[in-house]
Amino acid sequence: MTSAEIRNSFLDFFKEKQHTTVPSASILPQSPGLLFTNAGMNQFVPYFLGTEKAPYDPPRAADTQKCIRAGGKHNDLEDVGYDTYHHTFFEMLGNWSFGNYFKEEAIAWAWELVVERWGLPANRLYATVYAPSEGDPSEFDHEAYQLWKGFFEKAGLDPKIHIVNGNVEDNFWKMGDTGPCGPCSELHVDMTPNGDTGGKLVNMDSDLCIEIWNLVFIQYNAEEDGTYRDLPSKHVDTGMGFERVCSLIQNTKNFTDFSKKPTNYATDVFQPIFRMLEKLSGKKYVDVYPGEESDALEQAIAFRVIADHIRTLSFSIADSIIPGNTGRNYVLRRILRRAVKYGRTLGFNGNEPFLPRLVDTLVEEFSHVFPEIKTRAAVIKETLTLEEESFNKTLDRGMEKFENSVIENVFPPEDAFQLYDTFGFPLDLTALLCRERGITLDEKAVEARMEEARKLSRASQKKMVVRATEISTDVITEFLGFEKNSCEAIVLEIHGNLVITDKTVFFTEMGGQEGDTGTLNDSTITSTQQIGSAIAHQIEGNIPAVGDTVDLTINRERRSYRSSPHRHPPPPLGYTQSHLTRRFPTGVQRFARSLDL
Ligand code: SER
Repeated sequence: MTSAEIRNSFLDFFKEKQHTTVPSASILPQSPGLLFTNAGMNQFVPYFLGTEKAPYDPPRAADTQKCIRAGGKHNDLEDVGYDTYHHTFFEMLGNWSFGNYFKEEAIAWAWELVVERWGLPANRLYATVYAPSEGDPSEFDHEAYQLWKGFFEKAGLDPKIHIVNGNVEDNFWKMGDTGPCGPCSELHVDMTPNGDTGGKLVNMDSDLCIEIWNLVFIQYNAEEDGTYRDLPSKHVDTGMGFERVCSLIQNTKNFTDFSKKPTNYATDVFQPIFRMLEKLSGKKYVDVYPGEESDALEQAIAFRVIADHIRTLSFSIADSIIPGNTGRNYVLRRILRRAVKYGRTLGFNGNEPFLPRLVDTLVEEFSHVFPEIKTRAAVIKETLTLEEESFNKTLDRGMEKFENSVIENVFPPEDAFQLYDTFGFPLDLTALLCRERGITLDEKAVEARMEEARKLSRASQKKMVVRATEISTDVITEFLGFEKNSCEAIVLEIHGNLVITDKTVFFTEMGGQEGDTGTLNDSTITSTQQIGSAIAHQIEGNIPAVGDTVDLTINRERRSYRSSPHRHPPPPLGYTQSHLTRRFPTGVQRFARSLDL
């Protein structure tokens, strides 16, 4: 089956069982406690809580849900690319009962779909059931155990081997710290060549025995005070990892050949993205598995990370989550910067953004399921272009700083902080670089340093002044002030309250003349200073982040006054008059005219 056929097969199966097929909800979650939609059940929370009635007759639904697990309670970011089955973005196929059927039907239909319809050999299947320790919520799930036992016995298999107890971590599912929850029962598949591991690999983080489906029996609401309140009705919430099931079915050629190691990336979900990446980079993807010794491993990881991250980025932007400074927006920015960094491994040197060039492949492959990827394609490409261009401007210098900072296999926390603060390197990117090279980094110390900086900035935002003489930079800021009073610019470096951008309309303080004043977004620019060929804007108010696109506007009245006939227009950026006339001949004239000189 192709991935499209697998998706449809799941939805059709549950349609036969009177489930209404519903569209995926947005990646932008309704629940205030979530960074991203992280499970199929998120959109149904009001039905579980009983605050709204499910509008389906019977009250059952099925769908494929766009999910992101990066940041927050469920976070798979670090594993992506290094293993073959974790993703930041994935589809979750699910079926739901809202106070309708419960464990009996949920388990029976799971068996029917996977074993009877799709044909997975039952001897490769393992079901886990909830077995709490003292102090954990709820009790041993006898009912689920008995139901699975019936199916395994009927298939001639020993339930003692095929049913595995799971603890509160693995078998009591919670959406977040609060919200609907309950015991769950997961299906794991032994994908070893002989399928004879007897359950030893279940929940052992093995890529040869992975969880494909989680059946959650929602009975409680996790309250803010840490208690579990019984819900008015009992519900079913199941989630099947779409890419994993595609891997299971396609890598084994419909369960006929288990000789090949499974990987989600060998499926038609990811292959079209790889083909496009190969075309753009001129490099070839070779399936190298984690742990295998191969020169191609680094490149394989880069392919996988980029293919994963471009989906996360594109689907998020389609749902109006834009890379930015805080919260989920910063998670997205981190993901983008990781992707850009891995792009260097494939030879994308930063001259031209490559991420936007992958978007059309996603449109081709996914718009029949998620039409928003097509309708929002232009916004996605534009956002990726701006963000990638912005990070490209600091990436090489940041990498140089990284290389120069290592002291005997240890990375100083202060330098990691500077990489974050000045070069826009998310901490996890620096951590990743360190991990790749076996360098030790005390991440806690860096976090503490970041927190200290945040506190300082909050407490004394107005007073904190860094003098230009204290810093150095090799940024060249393009000056547009002859032609415009305002412009959009990208923040390239931040030093305390001094913000250096790629462009500016602000004259600098020099030769006894004061620099322009004005605004950066809604903050005040109190003065501007030249550092080498860069323009630094002294900010009062909110400091942006490296990579932000900001609006710069000069205080026009002030410049007109300053440049009255009694004073000379200030020389821009330390250029001599000959530089000026060479670079800006018409600009100078236009500027003079605009001031009625
Ligand atoms: N909510 C469960 C999960 O995300 C099942 O859908 O695993």
